[in-house]
Amino acid sequence: MNYKALCATEVNEKLEIGIINKQLDDNLNPDEVLIKVQYSSLNYKDAMALNGNMAKIMRRLPMSPGIDLSGTVEMSSSKNFNVGDEVLVTGFGMGEKFSGGYSQYVKIDSNYIVKKPNNISLRESMIIGTAGFTAMLAVDEIIESNFDKSKAKILISGSTGGVASISIALLSNMGYQISTLTSKNNQENYLKSIGSNEVISTQDFLQSNSKPLNSSKWMGAIDTLGGEILSSILASMNYGGIVISTGNALSNDLRTTVLPFILRKVKLIGIDSVYSQINYRHKIWESYSQLIPKDTLNKIVTEIYLKDLNSYAIKMLDGKLKGRVIINIKDS
Ligand SMILES: NC(=O)c1ccc[n+]([C@@H]2O[C@H](COP(=O)([O-])OP(=O)(O)OC[C@H]3O[C@@H](n4cnc5c(N)ncnc54)[C@H](OP(=O)(O)O)[C@@H]3O)[C@@H](O)[C@H]2O)c1
Repeated sequence: MNYKALCATEVNEKLEIGIINKQLDDNLNPDEVLIKVQYSSLNYKDAMALNGNMAKIMRRLPMSPGIDLSGTVEMSSSKNFNVGDEVLVTGFGMGEKFSGGYSQYVKIDSNYIVKKPNNISLRESMIIGTAGFTAMLAVDEIIESNFDKSKAKILISGSTGGVASISIALLSNMGYQISTLTSKNNQENYLKSIGSNEVISTQDFLQSNSKPLNSSKWMGAIDTLGGEILSSILASMNYGGIVISTGNALSNDLRTTVLPFILRKVKLIGIDSVYSQINYRHKIWESYSQLIPKDTLNKIVTEIYLKDLNSYAIKMLDGKLKGRVIINIKDS
């Protein structure tokens, strides 16, 4: 049987990416599963892979990019998965070390697969995807820190983006007060519609919070940008506040002083979605995916096809997208 896949290859030291027809090889290794992919999503890493394989996201070529997928089990040599099971895969090196979700069929080690929670569809699981999984991991850290949510505000940066949009939706639905930073001056209605209580221009925030310690305003923060934004956030936290660093869309740098840590007992916590343990993944998907309102998932999604990926990847790296982009793989 033939199927379609986006394939990245190197020709004369230049990256070439295009849709190809492939022949299905249905021989499985032990503990391997063949998934018929229905949806994938566009994450920041995918955008880098699609744009000249920045930061060498794809470690070997040729391969299909795509760090996320959802679909149904077509064949299985694993006792944990049966034909017809609805499943999802995010990270674990998929789309980086081995071929990923921008393909109508994918063979994968069963240890990387999560059974889709009953309360969400395969499509919704990809609106969440790696960005949403990262948001759920960040929110779990906030829940673990156990502060009184009625008295404490949370700050979220890069807020029209995927990680931030899901974080806003989830925390707002759980009763937290949310302030959001955005570089876009026309997205206040969007951000309020998904749960932000206060929208602040990123530029204004930087200008008024540039000291080693600023007036303390937030108990929790989820940062997706890094660089000077993360420095200013650290310096603006309440006593005992917790800052979750999830991304580097602005910069890998972090310049700070020790003052937020030794005078305000601020904690800085990192999130990694790629190698999160499989049992913890099950818990996170089961606990939080149902708490993201379905109408918000519909508000934040743009659905595209494999052929549209390149142009969306460019927009993503330019910081021009909002919400989440999913790829309808089955109809591509
Ligand atoms: N730790 C992990 O495991 C993990 C997992 C997933 C993603 N990430 C990382 O998290 C970050 C966000 O991912 P995402 O999926 O949310 O990406 P995204 O959808 O592209 O969102 C990023 C947002 O950041 C803001 N932004 C982008 N470039 C900017 C710039 N130069 N200056 C200021 N603001 C800028 C924009 O929001 P506004 O215009 O509203 O400010 C943009 O929408 C990325 O760095 C990604 O690599 C990490």
